[in-house]
Parts: sequence; structure tokens; C-alpha cells
Amino acid sequence: MRILLVLVLLLLAALFYAWESPIDPVTPPEADAFSAAAVARGEALAGAGNCATCHTVSGGAPYAGGRPMATGFGTVHATNITPHPEDGIGRWSEEAFVRAMREGVRRDGAHLFPAFPYTHFAHTSDDDLAALYAYFMTRQPVAGGVPDNTLPFPLNVRLLQAGWKLLYFDGGGDVSDPGRDDVWNRGAYLAEGLGHCGACHTPRNALGAERGDAAYAGAVIDDWYAPALTSANGAPLPWTRDELFAYLRQGATDLHGVAAGSMSAVVHDGLARLPDSDIEALAVYFADLAGAPERIEPAAVRDAMAGLDADHTGRALYAYACESCHYNAPGAPRALRPELTLNSAVTGPDPTNFLRLTLAGLGVGEGHPAAFMHGYAGALTDADIVAIARYLRGPAAAEAAGWRDLDARLAELRTALEARP
Ligand code: HEC
Ligand code: HEC
Ligand code: HEC
Repeated sequence: MRILLVLVLLLLAALFYAWESPIDPVTPPEADAFSAAAVARGEALAGAGNCATCHTVSGGAPYAGGRPMATGFGTVHATNITPHPEDGIGRWSEEAFVRAMREGVRRDGAHLFPAFPYTHFAHTSDDDLAALYAYFMTRQPVAGGVPDNTLPFPLNVRLLQAGWKLLYFDGGGDVSDPGRDDVWNRGAYLAEGLGHCGACHTPRNALGAERGDAAYAGAVIDDWYAPALTSANGAPLPWTRDELFAYLRQGATDLHGVAAGSMSAVVHDGLARLPDSDIEALAVYFADLAGAPERIEPAAVRDAMAGLDADHTGRALYAYACESCHYNAPGAPRALRPELTLNSAVTGPDPTNFLRLTLAGLGVGEGHPAAFMHGYAGALTDADIVAIARYLRGPAAAEAAGWRDLDARLAELRTALEARP
């Protein structure tokens, strides 16, 4: 009997802890309630946070939601965050918006799932959240709800997210380091906060939380591999500040290749709205994180590109299908024709990007905005693609776990690509 009483009390305490009160709806604010300067700043910050990428379905109205996110537990849909009074966040006060961004709690008090990267957004300053609110409240309201999530019971019970937060959410806050200069601190603020770089580049634990002990160690997410951004990055040439700036600004560099897959949207739909000074700050922060040198010597480029095996069985296929564009000409790598031996898609521990990009190609606007590549899914057999991968990768293919069973991974990706709309 006493045990039962204790259990009931514990349950009540847990509910009390997990419970968040609703915040009253407001009349949607008039567009002229916000200064043009705040709206413009909010637009840039929405770019930093890639809000459009998740909250827009391809071909759909901006921010009207509905985009499915496969989480490994089930599918969660990004919601309508236009200021529509019923279907969007039109009746959310600034207080409710700030609470969602800082605590992952909906206006009605329900907990939000961490597929919404509030764990990062929680680092955002008051001023920046006010500017984001001004921007979203002055968008075109769009009617329309979003499809139901497919999380199974009990994972769909939002109250249980309180437990997840207790375990894995540090509450956000200031990430600045007084020992560093303003540029580094600006980079840290953008990367850890709105930029949520770790949401893709940091591996997650069994409950879907980013692993604190493996920050930026590289991870596969949604069938793309986001490489390590630490000294563990496998690219033959270091990610110097200049290389990072070029990559994050243009989506391509001569010495590392192009931003493909989900990184392409980060660069072209998000970071593109930020001024050069912010991109420079991100470059400074990540060059420091990886311990990169100031510059890359030309001799290092020549050395890094030497060494493909002329007798390899994949050599002839590569010459036939790829070399007309990917020349492997030491001394003259060019962003428009990524040098594959310098590319993380080939040199990283995971073959997903190489296989997927070779199968499906890269569209106009992806990667280098002035270039595209058609896919080889129909032209090359699995055996051909595997032979080319092993040729480019060289002896390291035998060493990295991910590159040993290429046939299985390729078959998986082919099936997944065929299933895509
Ligand atoms: C990685 C994808 C992703 C990004 C990037 C993202 N969101 Fe979301 N967002 C979601 C998902 C998924 C949900 C729904 C979560 C849920 O149902 O628990 C959501 C929910 C929200 C909500 C709660 C709305 C509601 O109706 O419940 C707000 C507000 C929001 N996002 C604002 C933003 C803003 C502002 C940005 C950019 C700074 C942003 N989001 C970027 C995925 C994303
Ligand atoms: C939505 C997921 C996602 C987010 C968010 C994201 N990245 Fe990436 N990133 C990727 C993927 C996937 C790749 C691999 C792209 C490729 O191979 O072309 C990548 C590649 C990179 C690379 C090149 C690494 C290499 O070795 O080739 C850099 C640098 C990078 N990201 C920096 C950042 C920064 C800085 C941020 C935050 C502002 C960020 N990323 C946010 C998914 C993401
Ligand atoms: C007609 C020219 C052409 C041919 C032939 C070609 N590619 Fe490409 N490839 C490109 C271009 C251009 C890009 C960059 C596209 C962009 O930025 O949108 C690219 C990008 C890539 C990437 C992504 C590199 C990165 O930086 O992430 C891979 C991987 C790749 N190609 C593999 C191959 C393979 C394997 C073959 C042969 C089977 C091949 N390509 C044949 C032109 C070509």
C-alpha cells in the first residue's frame, strides 16, 4: 500500500515537472508593428537557421510546413510557421515563439520533438529571437495543416519529451569564450546556435541526442554523410580558413570539391543570406576547431593528388566514364570539376556520398551553382561503380569499415533512390 502511494506521488511529481502551461493566443500582430530593420535582420537569421529548408516542401509555399523528416523512430513533419491564425503561428505571442525556440515547447504547452533543433536554437540571443519573430509575423499567411507524424506509441507521447530534455538538453545559454576574440565568438554563436551545424555533423546516441563526447565527429543523416569537422576530417588537404570561407560562401572550392546533398541547401538556401563577415566568422571557428594551418602549400597539393594505381581494374572504367571531367591533373584542381582524390566523398570513412552522387548526379543549383552532373544509375552497373570507387579510394578501401562492403551499401542506396518521388 505504501509502495503504491510512493509510486503515485512520483508520477504526480513527474507530471508536475513535465507539465508546461499554455500561453494565451493573441490577435495576429499587424505587419507595421515591426521595424523594417528588425524584419531584414530576421530574414538573415532565418537563413542562418535554415528554417525554410525544413519548413517548406519542395514546390510548396515558403514556411507552410509538411516536410517529412525521417528520425529513425518514425517520421516527424515540420509545421506551418507562417502567421496563419489557425494553421500557422499567427496567434503566437512573442513570448510563445521565444519559449518554442529556447525550450522546445509549443504554445499550447506540449513538448516539441528534437527533430526541431531547438537544442541549438536555445543559444540564440533575445534580440535575434525578436528579429526572427518580426520576420515570421510579417510573412504571407498560408492555410493548410501538415500530415500526421508516424511515431509509434509511446514515442508519440509528447509529455515523455520532458524526460528526454532532462537527460539531454542543457538549456542553451551563452556559448561565448571570453578568452577568444569577437570573430571567433561570432562563429561559435552561429555554429552552436542558429546554424545547428552539429545537428548533422555530430553522431547521435540511441535516443537521438547528439553525443557530447563526439562533437562534430561526422555522422550519417538521412542517407548523407556529414564529414567530421574536427582534426578527424579525412580530406587529404586541411580545411583552412580560406577553404572553409569559399565552401560556405560559394558551395565549392578548388581543393575540396562541392557542397552536395543536404549541405547544398545549407549553403545556398541558408548561409547565402548572411553577410561575408558571418561566413568568415564560421570559417575562423571551424578552422580553429580542426587545428588547420593558415595556408596550403602548392607542394602539398601535388603530393596529395599523386598515387592512383595505374594497374587497378577500375582504372579503365574511370578513364572511360569520368576522367573527361574529373581529370586528376596535379597542379590544376578546379572547383567546377571537383578533384575526386582530394574529396571527402572519396577519402572519408563513409562511402555514402560518393555512391549516392555517382548514382544520382548533382542538379543545377546544387554544389557549384554553375555546374551539374548527370547521374550514372542507368549507365553503370553496381560492379562498375564499386570498381571505380575502389580505384579512387586506393588501398585505404580495405581499411575503413564503411568501404569494405560497398556492394551492400550501393544496393541499399539504389533502392532508396528509386523509392524517392
Ligand atoms: C532540421 C529541421 C528544422 C529546422 C532547420 C527548423 N525547424 Fe522548426 N520545426 C521542425 C519540426 C520537425 C517541427 C515540429 C516538431 C514537433 O512536431 O514536435 C518544428 C517546429 C517548429 C515550431 C513550433 C511550431 C508549431 O506549430 O508547433 C516553430 C515555432 C519553429 N519550428 C520555428 C523554426 C524556426 C524559426 C526555424 C529557423 C530558425 C526552424 N524552425 C528551423 C524542424 C525544423
Ligand atoms: C542538414 C544537415 C547539415 C547541416 C545542418 C550542416 N551540414 Fe555541413 N555537411 C552536411 C553534409 C551531408 C555534407 C557532405 C556534403 C558533400 O559531400 O558534398 C557536409 C559537408 C560540410 C563540409 C565539408 C566537409 C568535407 O570534408 O567535405 C563543411 C566544411 C561543412 N559541412 C560545414 C558545415 C557548417 C559550418 C555548418 C553549420 C553552419 C553545417 N555544415 C551544417 C550536412 C549538414
Ligand atoms: C561531363 C562531366 C562529368 C563527368 C563525365 C563526370 N562528372 Fe562527376 N561531376 C561533374 C561536375 C561538374 C561536378 C560538380 C557538380 C556541381 O557542383 O553541381 C561533379 C561532381 C561529382 C561528385 C561530387 C564531388 C564533391 O565535391 O562532392 C562526385 C562524387 C562525382 N562527380 C563522381 C563522378 C564519377 C564517379 C564519374 C564517372 C562515373 C563522374 N563523376 C563523371 C562533372 C562530371
